[in-house]
Amino acid sequence: MSSNQIKVELTSAKKQKPDFANLPFGKIFTDHMFVMDYTEGKGWHDARIVPYQPLTLDPAAIVFHYGQTVFEGMKAYLTKENEVLLFRPDQNMKRLNRSNTRICIPQIDEEFALTALKQLVAVDRDWVPNVEGTSLYIRPFIIATEPYLGVAASKNYQFIIIMSPVGNYYAEGINPVKIAVEQQYVRAVKGGTGNAKTAGNYAASLAAQEVAEKSGYSQVLWLDGKENKYIEEVGSMNIFFKINGEVVTPELNGSILEGITRDSVIHLVKHWGLPIVEKRISINEIYKAYQDGLLEEAFGTGTAAVISPVGELYWNDEKLVINGGKIGEVSQKLYNTITGIQRGTVPDPFGWNVKVEDEEIILAI
Ligand code: COI
Repeated sequence: MSSNQIKVELTSAKKQKPDFANLPFGKIFTDHMFVMDYTEGKGWHDARIVPYQPLTLDPAAIVFHYGQTVFEGMKAYLTKENEVLLFRPDQNMKRLNRSNTRICIPQIDEEFALTALKQLVAVDRDWVPNVEGTSLYIRPFIIATEPYLGVAASKNYQFIIIMSPVGNYYAEGINPVKIAVEQQYVRAVKGGTGNAKTAGNYAASLAAQEVAEKSGYSQVLWLDGKENKYIEEVGSMNIFFKINGEVVTPELNGSILEGITRDSVIHLVKHWGLPIVEKRISINEIYKAYQDGLLEEAFGTGTAAVISPVGELYWNDEKLVINGGKIGEVSQKLYNTITGIQRGTVPDPFGWNVKVEDEEIILAI
């Protein structure tokens, strides 16, 4: 399929724009959405941009019962020159297809999906917020739509993209969050779906998050599902530590999501010439580093919050306060550099930004 195979139906009732200086995360949606259908034997077809609207699905659709669905999260930014930039969108499309493989959903044409996404952003260009710290969050997702109560891969799907102008993911913004080390629940196990971006992983995380929130913690630090010992993720983000001058992050092991911000952090830290290692790392090693006064920084990485410093870890009835509860030097530099690249205010040494071109706007309208 090519871009001229995307039908565009513009809304006749544009919504009123929110106050871009006071945006929540993920509650306000733009005027349009992208939809494409998949039918067994026919493939993906009927690509279209339509007014944002509710879906009509059969209550027996497989997605409702067995969670056959995958999603992505990415962002568009407005530069001072009024250009719209996407951050490494090709990586999101690649990961979407890796998640598809794991959840038995047919592959999408990554190039076409990116063209569709750019056209949708172009149509709703005036929804890309222009205030520091804000962006247009883009949520591509695929759902299994076949009405069938047997446990089997669906024969039909919908690929949908919706968009939401957003502010900070955490109320704390870039201020450090408090995290409780989770000792009862696990998020994922080896051989499970931890490295796929699929709804079930997030549903599985809610109970622990609720308990943590009741005790005054923003999120939990997940340990591995087998020995309950090795660090995996923090909340819905990847996790990094700085210990005695070295940046450390858990190696990808099949149950950890391959974060695009994680990969960007690794590239940047290497580019700056700082030591960095991806390895299995236990909570006991972190505790020992803390006791020895060597735990210098901890931070989560993800599309939604970009960098989220950890100011306190609650572990075995003890509060480990990291860097005096303040944001560390490397965390701050990473936040400034990544958000700077995304907004086009600092050089983009790896060519990560993809511009939404004016032609796409003309094509789309
Ligand atoms: C992210 O950090 O970008 C996430 O995965 C959170 C998202 C599910 C809202």
